[in-house]
Amino acid sequence: MKLPPLTIGRFTAPVPLVQGGMSIRVSTSALAVPVAECGGIGTIGGSGVPVEELQADIRRAKSLTKGVIAVNIMFAMKNFYNLVMGSIEAGVDMIVTGAGFSRDIFKIGQDTNTPIVSIVSSPSFARLAEKLGAAAIVVEAKEAGGHLGTDVALRDLFPEIRKVVKKVPLIAAGGITNGFDMAEMMDKYGADGVQIATRFVLTKECSVDDRFKQAMLQAAPKDVTLIRSPVGLPGRALSTPFVQRMAAKVEMKAKECRWQCLKKCDHFYCISDRLQKACAGDLEDGLFFTGENVWKMKEILTVREVFEQFVSQAESVYKEPAPLPVR
Ligand SMILES: Cc1cc2nc3c(=O)[nH]c(=O)nc-3n(C[C@H](O)[C@H](O)[C@H](O)COP(=O)(O)O)c2cc1C
Repeated sequence: MKLPPLTIGRFTAPVPLVQGGMSIRVSTSALAVPVAECGGIGTIGGSGVPVEELQADIRRAKSLTKGVIAVNIMFAMKNFYNLVMGSIEAGVDMIVTGAGFSRDIFKIGQDTNTPIVSIVSSPSFARLAEKLGAAAIVVEAKEAGGHLGTDVALRDLFPEIRKVVKKVPLIAAGGITNGFDMAEMMDKYGADGVQIATRFVLTKECSVDDRFKQAMLQAAPKDVTLIRSPVGLPGRALSTPFVQRMAAKVEMKAKECRWQCLKKCDHFYCISDRLQKACAGDLEDGLFFTGENVWKMKEILTVREVFEQFVSQAESVYKEPAPLPVR
């Protein structure tokens, strides 16, 4: 059966598939545009890049597609407010925010008619986000890549949040690797759409260095691990030499704080430097965020092939979901 579209605020994506935002420069317009062209929501990772660069990338994306373009900005960023306002000024369709919780963002959304999408990992924050005016909510579970807000698996966490979110679309994220997972999250668990990220790193269009993609392709389950992040949250990443040195508590503090990127930073190491090194393919010193199920992915596809695969698999099994209990 055909998958339903995903409507967030005044925007409708014909395919209920959101490409998760990935900072720093992992998901740029190079990835977000083909995703939007295929009918999903393409998300530019907005954290850790200068506002002018982000604005130029948003304008580029908007000039290349009529599809839906979002930007993901972590609340933990020192220049969160400037990144949000700069993105809206550049014409982004919606703002997605996680890694901390901003109450003020909803007022900005209302004042500028910009849908705000909150990433949450607990029923209490989901309830709060809906009450404050979120246009949609992403439930991000422990299988996700990058910073994590929970150690609970998607199939345990999602139902708890489904119970409390009453009005706005609810999107499932973390460890979804194919269209069968997508259909399951939608018809069995009542998700209005899914967000995936790791699968999109493994596309021809993702602009990271090929060594990043090859390291992901070669990863076995034991090569994916939890790391300590200066943001103050755990993160999920490939177990590279840098991560192993971190686990052994080898001193890795940067000599100076070049980026001044985080509101609060424990300066254990410089996360901006390490993520940039990953993008450039530095297997020794980079920090490679990845989802837990990366080992299930065996090939680099085009964005269009990912969409074709997800949609055909999902629609081969998707059934209209049973109505949700009156909430
Ligand atoms: C390389 C990478 C970078 C990420 N960066 C961010 C980020 O900057 N902000 C954010 O909210 N989530 C970030 N995430 C999380 C994704 O947006 C997404 O929600 C999650 O990874 C979904 O799980 P999956 O990768 O198993 O599909 C990142 C994930 C990866 C793999």
